[in-house]
Formats: sequence, structure tokens, C-alpha cells
Amino acid sequence: MSTQLEVEAQPLTHLEDWEDFLEGRYKEGKSETEFRQYDEKATPGVANFYRLNHRYQTVEYVLGKEKEYFSLKKGMKSVWEAAEFLNTLVDDSDPDTDLTQIEHLLQTSEAMRRDGCPRWMVLVGFVHDLGKCLCLYGEPQWGVVGDTFPVGCAWSKDIVFPEYFDANPDRLVPEYQTQYGIYEPNCGLENVHMSFGHDGYIAEVMKPYLPDEALYMLRFHSFYPWHRHGAYTHLTNEKDRAMLEWVNKFNPYDLYSKGHSKPDVKALKPYYDDLFAEFLPEKLAW
Ligand SMILES: [Fe+2]
Ligand SMILES: [Fe+2]
Repeated sequence: MSTQLEVEAQPLTHLEDWEDFLEGRYKEGKSETEFRQYDEKATPGVANFYRLNHRYQTVEYVLGKEKEYFSLKKGMKSVWEAAEFLNTLVDDSDPDTDLTQIEHLLQTSEAMRRDGCPRWMVLVGFVHDLGKCLCLYGEPQWGVVGDTFPVGCAWSKDIVFPEYFDANPDRLVPEYQTQYGIYEPNCGLENVHMSFGHDGYIAEVMKPYLPDEALYMLRFHSFYPWHRHGAYTHLTNEKDRAMLEWVNKFNPYDLYSKGHSKPDVKALKPYYDDLFAEFLPEKLAW
């Protein structure tokens, strides 16, 4: 049994490694077979990250984290303040060329704006990764980023590195190992406990203010087994099926909007001030 210390000593060195991995994995036109070639040898750092994620994301862990964070007791912050806070999360791999977290968010939202997406969607583009501030609250990286999946029922083979679930203690709970597990057939994804991470957290923060389409984009943007591979449809309902279209609309912006040009934060600020004021109060509970 590893201690908490060992667990935290081993995650990805950089949050962006996971994003780069996703981008490579879902390169446009890539076949399912090629996707499977992302193995331990090809990407040892990411494989290690998933080893920890799949081992420790149990029902008990998820319920505990939901209780801790979904009550939003981490204080009041404006969106800009939250973004500035996230910006203190420095990726030390290449400080001269890397974009800051705010610049990453703006690349996503600006790509949506260029394509004429609805204003609420541009807002989603900007806030979608603000939940990564969980890292600054001391959460390990395997509990903040990574593909998400339902807990409390059988794991899909479409979750990347499914073999790592062998080390997850929920494997020994028969109730969690059936197709439906603790859920009713087609109960709807809103009633499913997803592995804990930045997606669920930001969706809770934004829940009172944004339409369902936006909340689905936020809550399920890393649920690749569902939106990319069509897994878990036995848990989805009518609403999920309608919302999937929007989640899929969001995904390319998340994956492919990373360019090399730095957005001009100062020049863009007035547009975003207006956008935030249109949908959100000055300060939100985090
Ligand atoms: Fe994300
Ligand atoms: Fe993202």
C-alpha cells in the first residue's frame, strides 16, 4: 500500500502533458487501432499518471471530494480573479515559450468567437479549465485532470489504460462491478458520480448561471469514453442524448485551438468584462 506521499511524488510533472497526450490521441482522422497504440512504452509519464488515477478514483474518494468541493466553500472570486489565481500555477517545463493558463483559456474562447459561436459558449471556452485551481488547493494532478468516467459501476474498455483498474479497490465490491452498478438503467448522466476532477468542479461553480448546454460542456468535456467512444449509453437518457451534440461541438476547440500566437489579454479584457457581466454576478462562490 502506497502512502499519500508516494502518490503525490509521482504524478505528471506538468499538467499540459495530459492535454498534449489527448491532442495526439485524438488527432483528426486517427483510427481506433492507432489510439490503442498509446501504451506504457510510448508515453511512460502519462501512463504513470493514469496508473494513479485509475487506482485511486474510487466511489469513496469521489463522494468525499464532492462533499468537500461541491458545497463551494473556498471563497468568493470573480472570473478574472479565478483566472489570475490559476495563472499562479506555473508550468516550469519551458517558461519562455509556454503560454500562461489565461492565454490557453483565451485561445479556446477566441476560436469560438471567431466561428460565431453563441456568447454563452464563448464564456464556457474561457472558464472551462478554471477548475484546475484544485491543484492549488493541494489536490494531486491525477485528481484534477485526465479523462473522466462513472464510478460505482463497471469500467468501460473505452477508458484509456483500462488495465490499471486492476489496482482499484472498487474491483472487490461486487455491487460496483455490474453494468449498472449503483445506478438505474438510463438514469441520466446528471445522476451519475463521475471520477473527480476539474470538470465537475467548474460545472458546480457555474450551475446557477448557465444553460444546460453550457453545463454539459463543462461537466463532461473530459468524458472521452462517452463523447468520443460512445460508451455508457446504458446510463444516458433523452436529455444526455440531446446534449451530446453540444459537448461534441465544444471538444474540437478544447483539443485543437492551441496556436502559437499569444492572445493580447489587455486588448481582449473589455470584451470579456462585458461577457462575464452578461451572465455572471461580480463574484462567484468557488
Ligand atoms: Fe479541461
Ligand atoms: Fe481545456
